[in-house]
Amino acid sequence: MTDDVDTVAEGGLDTEWGAIPGADEIRRIGLSNALREVTAPLHRRAERAGVISDIVRGRSSRSAYALLLRNLHLVYAEIERGLERHRASPAVRLIVLPEVYRADAIARDLETLYGSAEAADAVPVLPEGTAYAEAVRASAEGDGVRLIGHAYTRYLGDLSGGQTVSQVLAKTLGLDAGARNLYRFAGIDGLDAFKQRYRDAIDRAAFETDRPDAILAEGMRAFRFNIALFWAVQDAVGGASEPSGEPAPPPV
Ligand code: HEM
Repeated sequence: MTDDVDTVAEGGLDTEWGAIPGADEIRRIGLSNALREVTAPLHRRAERAGVISDIVRGRSSRSAYALLLRNLHLVYAEIERGLERHRASPAVRLIVLPEVYRADAIARDLETLYGSAEAADAVPVLPEGTAYAEAVRASAEGDGVRLIGHAYTRYLGDLSGGQTVSQVLAKTLGLDAGARNLYRFAGIDGLDAFKQRYRDAIDRAAFETDRPDAILAEGMRAFRFNIALFWAVQDAVGGASEPSGEPAPPPV
């Protein structure tokens, strides 16, 4: 595993996805734009990865989706614990917006999908889920700014493509609203306006830390953890009904 964060050079970092700009450049173009830019190739990979690809093509199963949520629940719990811990931090506090938190919503979905909270808790978490949650926990160490990369990746995803995923889950798996709370933001009026507000908050956060490049690198890592988890879930439930033609998952 390479740790982009520790090797970020003064003027920016060359990665397999391109260069990570330096702090001044990130602030000039906006951290949220920079995140979108550097993660764009990874977003394309995520859409085609494992269980997500199966869902979009209507080839998933209730058990595969439930297993995905079982693993993501841990991840959101770590993100939200970290955000709360850094409520007073000049950078992180800007994105402490509990109306977007998803851990409780996922817990309700898991109850519906597995029949009870106890039954859901009894399902073993995959190593890729544990690794992802552990990375989020580690990103909350110190000043916690790297959490912003994780929050960006999951919350803006749920508010964007997640809305399409929700419709597909209803149509192809017959999941009712009680199993799709992840995509229902009851406390938010107007998802597009909220997304803009969230992006503005991320942009402002770049001026409250001297390491906005570390947030970019962590956003990229977050996508890779997602991709690894999507493949692992597909693998655990017996693979896709036909090969997806995708190359092996990249190392996280
Ligand atoms: C099921 C497949 C997916 C589809 C169809 C999809 C679709 C989209 C679309 C259309 C947008 C743009 C929305 C806008 O500009 O307002 C978007 C944004 C985004 N998606 Fe996805 N997505 C998918 C999967 C994912 C996954 C798996 C992740 C991460 C784990 C993700 C993370 C994001 C993020 C972070 C953004 C915000 C980009 C930005 O504005 O900076 N998406 N997605």
